[in-house]
Amino acid sequence: MSFTPDELKRDLGLSHVEFCEEVPSTQDVARGIVVPPPFLVYARRQSKGRGRLGRGWQSDEGGLYLTLVVNRFAGDWTVPLVSAYILRQGLSTYVDGLILKWPNDVLHQEAKLAGVLVEVWGSRLGIGVGVNVNQTTFDGNLKEHVTSLRLIDGGTHDTEGLLISIVSALMDGVPELRERGFVHFHPRIRKLLQASRQPVRLHHGSDVITGELCDLYPEGDALIETTAGERLRLPAGQLLGGGS
Ligand code: BTN
Repeated sequence: MSFTPDELKRDLGLSHVEFCEEVPSTQDVARGIVVPPPFLVYARRQSKGRGRLGRGWQSDEGGLYLTLVVNRFAGDWTVPLVSAYILRQGLSTYVDGLILKWPNDVLHQEAKLAGVLVEVWGSRLGIGVGVNVNQTTFDGNLKEHVTSLRLIDGGTHDTEGLLISIVSALMDGVPELRERGFVHFHPRIRKLLQASRQPVRLHHGSDVITGELCDLYPEGDALIETTAGERLRLPAGQLLGGGS
C-alpha cells in the first residue's frame, strides 16, 4: 500500500477509512460501522460481492471494491446514476469508448467494466463501487459479458491510484448533487446516454420487456421505447436497493 488509511482519510476528508484483505462484501462491513459519514471501506477481495437485483459480483484479487458511506439527502435517488457517471468519467482517463449504461453500469463494447450498487441504511447511503482492473479471467458464464481495464488495453493498472481518484471524484460529485440537484448533471448524462442508443431489458410484473433507452428526464427517470413501440417512463427512484 503506497499510503496509509490515515493519509487517505486526511487527504479525502473522510471520517474513517477501513482497509480489508478479504471480506464477504464491503457493503456489509460499511453497514456495521457507526462513525459519522463520510467514510470508506476498501477490500482487496470479496467472497460474496453483490450487485443489483440479487446478482453476484465476482471479486477476485486485482479488482477494485469499495463502499463510500454518505448521509442521505433530498433527491438522493439519483445517486446511483450520478455515481456511475462519475465512475465512467474517471475510467475514461484510462481507456476510450466507455459507455454509461442506465442505471448503474460502465461498459466497454457491451462488456461490463464497472458497476455501482447503492443501498439505503436508515439515514445513510452505502455507495458500492466495483471496477474490474487487472483481472484476466472470469467465471464461465460471465466471460462473454465482463471485461477489465487490463483486458481492454493490455496494461497493468495501479488499483490504489484508481481508488484515490474515484473516491475523490465521488467526494466532489455527491455534495455537488446534494447542493445543485440532478439538473446540474442532467445535460451531460443525457447526452452520453442518447449517444449510445442502448438496449434495455427489464422485468415488468411477470413480463420481460425489451426496448431502447430514448431519453432521460430532468428527474433522472428514463424514457424507454419498447420493441412493441410503447413508450414507458422508468423511475430512477427504483434504483435504491437495500432497506432499513
Ligand atoms: C452492479 O453492477 O449490479 C453493481 C456492482 C457493485 C459491486 C460493488 S463491489 C464493492 C461493493 N460491495 C459489494 O458487495 N458490491 C459493491
